[in-house]
Amino acid sequence: MAKLLINNSEHEIPDGARIDETCENAGIPFSCNTGVCATCQILILEGHDNLGELTEEEVDLDMDRDTRLACQCIIKSGTVKVSY
Ligand code: FES
Repeated sequence: MAKLLINNSEHEIPDGARIDETCENAGIPFSCNTGVCATCQILILEGHDNLGELTEEEVDLDMDRDTRLACQCIIKSGTVKVSY
């Protein structure tokens, strides 16, 4: 199990799973769910390398290691700390 820390809450997610549902349940706003609107933008505070590579959609919206789209990210393993 991987661990996602969102502001001050802690969530367990299976290794390799998408983080979108957990983020939405934690209060992060979503809109398109397809990487187009950037509503779900999150800041990665720790564990950057524990997320999957940036998707084409994230690159198109000028995201980088520190700023990702919650609807596009997969958590590989370990712990990732984010805020929004
Ligand atoms: S919800 Fe639109 S980019 Fe993620």
